[in-house]
Amino acid sequence: MTSFRTLDDVDVKGKRVLLRVDLNVPMEDGRVTDATRIERILPTINELADKGAKVILLSHFGRPKGQRVESESLRHVLPALEQHLKRKVAFADDCVGAPAAAVIGAMTDGDIALLENTRFHKGEEKNDTAFIDEVAQNFDLFVNDAFSAAHRAHATTTGIAAKLPAIAGRTMQAELEALESALTSPARPVMAIVGGAKVSTKLELLGNLVAKVDYLVIGGGMANTFLAAQGKAVGKSLCEHDLADTARAILEKAKAANCTIVLPVDATVAQKFEAHAPSHIVSVDHVGADDMILDVGPKSIAHVEALLAQCKTLVWNGPFGAFELPPFDEGTNAVARTAARLTTEGKLLSVAGGGDTVAALNQAHAGQEFSYVSTAGGAFLEWLEGKTLPGVAALKG
Ligand code: 3PG
Ligand code: MG
Repeated sequence: MTSFRTLDDVDVKGKRVLLRVDLNVPMEDGRVTDATRIERILPTINELADKGAKVILLSHFGRPKGQRVESESLRHVLPALEQHLKRKVAFADDCVGAPAAAVIGAMTDGDIALLENTRFHKGEEKNDTAFIDEVAQNFDLFVNDAFSAAHRAHATTTGIAAKLPAIAGRTMQAELEALESALTSPARPVMAIVGGAKVSTKLELLGNLVAKVDYLVIGGGMANTFLAAQGKAVGKSLCEHDLADTARAILEKAKAANCTIVLPVDATVAQKFEAHAPSHIVSVDHVGADDMILDVGPKSIAHVEALLAQCKTLVWNGPFGAFELPPFDEGTNAVARTAARLTTEGKLLSVAGGGDTVAALNQAHAGQEFSYVSTAGGAFLEWLEGKTLPGVAALKG
């Protein structure tokens, strides 16, 4: 199935390995608040080190735009990395030039080092040849474990792959295998759940999914745009009224492709967008002029759950409602827990990713039981849009 080389295909002993990772982790007050991306790269780092490679990690962090920005130094991530690895990691305060060469030159087989933020150099985002050469000269092999940065055609995600022998790391491999089994060659029926605020940001994604899945469940603010396009009143709800024609075109395309679009039949409405705002449940045919739809209602939840019980594959991106404001997280929580249960029972392959999705599933205590939860935001969305990700294409080239 996979058309790229993996760690099974190369001998890494004694080699200087450039391991591209995504250490673009959220931080608050100098501490990493979600270490998922660190945890996911541990198998690749450990495998390379245990096989006797010199493992040199390279990543971007934030968007410093080609300048040295102290708050976006990877030095801040180093303690968390060492703590999770339970190994010492050397640090070079530049990813090229004398600092990088000195740190790499001092390594022995099995050692691990981290280089400073590659986006401190303008050449990174420009995919600049001179910068690629500067990076490449310190290495024998390129291993890419940064699926979540694969939608960027940058020097250390794509350009470098043409300069050094390039292979996929274990996380990259796992992401690609999960995504392929969910959408490229899935067991049917397949359901996609797409939520989130705006249709405008997910047009290509919806267009691609209707051609691939059997059920497309639309939730979140996006659903309001579809309801309005069908002539329903949505009161003061978030709604892109100017996209009514687009929404109708997606409904038509779905019909032609034999994809059933599932919209809410009832909703939890409130008059204030805040946690615990007084709320009640209405049919989508009776949303009041002052109402805001903040979640799907119980009938909608039951309908989605019944369909899901007949499906073999689920792809999920985006919450159903305003999940950060209880009780408007109920739709997301209920469906997430049902998907988790079906997965645990071996009846469903469930893959989720992109933006708020991981946070929403974790809040529902369901993320752990999904077959695969992607660490990617933008890359997951572009993959759902059916786009070729440059960082993945470079590994296959
Ligand atoms: C991400 O966090 O989505 C990736 O690390 C990519 O970051 P970017 O959007 O700044 O390119
Ligand atoms: Mg991003």
